[in-house]
Amino acid sequence: MADLIPTRDTDANVIRDELIAGLTAPQAMASPKYLYDALGSKLFEAICELPEYYPTRTEAAIFTRHGADIAESVGSGVTLIDLGAGNCAKAARLFPLLSPAQYVPIDISADFLHDAVQQLRQRFPQIGMLPLGMDFSATLALPNEVSRSRRLFFYPGSSIGNFHPDEALAFLRRLRAADGELLIGIDLVKDHAVLDAAYDDALGVTAGFNLNLLNHLNRLLGADFKLREWRHRGFFNPALSRIEMHLEARHALTVRWQGGERRFAEGERIHTENSYKYTPESFAALLGEAGYRLAQSWTDEAGWFMVCHARRG
Ligand code: TRP
Repeated sequence: MADLIPTRDTDANVIRDELIAGLTAPQAMASPKYLYDALGSKLFEAICELPEYYPTRTEAAIFTRHGADIAESVGSGVTLIDLGAGNCAKAARLFPLLSPAQYVPIDISADFLHDAVQQLRQRFPQIGMLPLGMDFSATLALPNEVSRSRRLFFYPGSSIGNFHPDEALAFLRRLRAADGELLIGIDLVKDHAVLDAAYDDALGVTAGFNLNLLNHLNRLLGADFKLREWRHRGFFNPALSRIEMHLEARHALTVRWQGGERRFAEGERIHTENSYKYTPESFAALLGEAGYRLAQSWTDEAGWFMVCHARRG
């Protein structure tokens, strides 16, 4: 029996196998989750401060400007289930407007979550809080302590854009099956130059964020990526309506790790992330396919970002 219990060792082997499979695939790739080591998380915070990276502040402005409307559409006393809650700051800003009966923040990083909730409990003692450390992208098995009364899934930041549309549909169907309404942030298709700049900023912070993945791989795999031999690529692909992030070899090179290696030709890339952009119509259609119907939506003046409230269709 004992050898069936997952150990840190086998976890590490699973990670290794997954990473090596990605690096040796004909089109090399690495899962975007490896972007967020300690330094990567700080660099992403810095990205959100960049003049070119509009999504975070545009979404925040929509919540500020239309907060009362959003609260009226959603109603008070909901069970607010926060998907990818992190430091819980986005949801906490909604508490005074929505007065949720229960708050259920979910995040992979459980420790981080518990600290954040500890502080929130003091500020909002009337709201029942149930932090859950789990990977909701894999399954959505909510414990019985999560109230069944008027569930509202909160999924801001256009995080759904990091799923392929087929996966996004499957994910929305799972939320629908868990009996919840939806309050979701969606980044919209816009001028391509604006999109390109948001993912390839002049200061080079996004480049640093993407390249830092190689530092992380060096640690996880004992690999010998040299960051100066690679270049960040982030651009809008209109045919697929997505931003693509890649790391591109500046010249022909070989990367070695414990037990393997790969040769990269000059210009060959490792695909690190996609960020799909929707139109109001294409996202409403996706909602419809998932069994939802759009109750109301709000955008900024430029029409760059959209917040949607969806009910069961
Ligand atoms: N989820 C973010 C987004 O799609 C992640 C992100 C922003 C990102 N800039 C990046 C990922 C650069 C990789 C490289 O907007």
